[in-house]
Amino acid sequence: MMTQDELKQLVAKAAVQEILNLLPPQSLIGMGTGSTVNFLIDELQAHASYFQGVVSSSDKTTQRLQDRGFKVFDANQVQSLPLYIDGADEIDPHGNMIKGGGGALTREKIVASLADHFICICDASKLVSVLGLFPLPVEVIPMASAQIQRFLESIGGKVELRKVKSDLKQNFVTDNQAWILDVTGLVIDQPLELETELNQIPGVICSGIFAMQSADTLLVPIDEKVQTVHFGKDKNN
Ligand code: 5RP
Repeated sequence: MMTQDELKQLVAKAAVQEILNLLPPQSLIGMGTGSTVNFLIDELQAHASYFQGVVSSSDKTTQRLQDRGFKVFDANQVQSLPLYIDGADEIDPHGNMIKGGGGALTREKIVASLADHFICICDASKLVSVLGLFPLPVEVIPMASAQIQRFLESIGGKVELRKVKSDLKQNFVTDNQAWILDVTGLVIDQPLELETELNQIPGVICSGIFAMQSADTLLVPIDEKVQTVHFGKDKNN
């Protein structure tokens, strides 16, 4: 049986073929963050010169891309992207996702919103019927965190301020100098509605619900063979 890392590498290899089939030479591409994306960057390295460049969603991804010979563009330098590709913490049958386990949710959503097409790559452990078992990350302006926590608790959430894994005394600080509240206990069966509601709260920078920027295509290994799922136009319902 393949390990989770081997499955991530398998889906990354399939993603390289999908990207090369979809994009003409000298295209720009948007790149997410996380261990699955790290495998993808490594697999794509041999084709670095095929691309004009990459718009990155985190400092970690930028570093890895530059180390492997990709030119990295700032999001402000591009008007649109043909493709964004990223992992997920959970994905439902409509292509809605929870993202941000790695803390890059805001930049991921910004780059995804520039793209015409979102390909999600993940292993089958991320497939769920309803979002919410994985703690929902909400990136917040630090001075608003207590007020936002009270709101999240009022809708049934249990909230934890994210800490640095190696030093639990320190708050985790995002690339945007903000904090993350991780919320469990929510059954997110109306992701678009909850994403919209969270977007209205003063001090919320971004939630990890990707319903407005849901996936158009999913590549996922099932029984060690990569399957491709295309989500329809009713994907948010
Ligand atoms: C980072 C993310 C990642 O896409 C998500 O956490 C999945 O990561 P991995 O590929 O390591 O399982 O949203 O903010």
